[in-house]
Amino acid sequence: MNEHANPQTLSQRADELEEQMMHELGERIATKSSLFYLADGKVEMPSGPALKAANPDKYFLMGADPRLPKMPAKPTLIDFFKNRFASLNHLLQSATHALKGGHNEKVVLACLLHDIANGALIRVDHGYWGAQLIEPYVSEEISWAVRNHQALRFFADESVGYKYPEAYVKFFGPDYEPEEYVQRAYAQARQHRWYMTSRLITLNDLYSFDPNVTVDPELFTDIIGRHFKQPPEGLGFDGSAVAHMWRTMIWPNNLL
Ligand SMILES: [Fe+2]
Ligand SMILES: [Fe+2]
Repeated sequence: MNEHANPQTLSQRADELEEQMMHELGERIATKSSLFYLADGKVEMPSGPALKAANPDKYFLMGADPRLPKMPAKPTLIDFFKNRFASLNHLLQSATHALKGGHNEKVVLACLLHDIANGALIRVDHGYWGAQLIEPYVSEEISWAVRNHQALRFFADESVGYKYPEAYVKFFGPDYEPEEYVQRAYAQARQHRWYMTSRLITLNDLYSFDPNVTVDPELFTDIIGRHFKQPPEGLGFDGSAVAHMWRTMIWPNNLL
């Protein structure tokens, strides 16, 4: 039978999948944040007591999810590259492109970090989230550049050969107009002294994602060492204003 003719079948299948995921976790119940339900078009949140009542002999998962790669107790940025950033190849390819183009190390690091938010945390407004994640650990110029690539990538700059990405015409349609806050951010960034640092992110941002090119993150160890202040307690445990954001990527489905 056609799936669309019977929505019940789909929801039953989702239940089965959820059930299967719980089995993979052994005696633990993994929960998802409300944001995941919102992204599925649902304003809802299965309550802790309801889930517990449905699984009386299980505890909620608190801590490492056995389905995810193990993180060390004091994670470094490289650990996140290896174990959490799903955008790994895109980041490494963009940074390699910047390196080969002879750009300075700040630009290379900005390219390396520009999409970490959508790689492991959240897609919407990824430039802003990404900048916030790195703010305590990099120079202001680097986080500024990451924040503003969010807006700049929608606007061409012929002076450096940056065209509106073909990919965006395919992704969003030919008539897509960025939201007003993005247009405002672009206009402000255009006047800023660090405009070109951010523009260089968009210029080295490889819109074609080549699955056959693999780059070792260790290649950037020295540049990271020189420009990213790795906290000795590990990212997520240094008490910084953004430590909770790194912990969220380490333990994405803790109940609370
Ligand atoms: Fe991006
Ligand atoms: Fe990108």
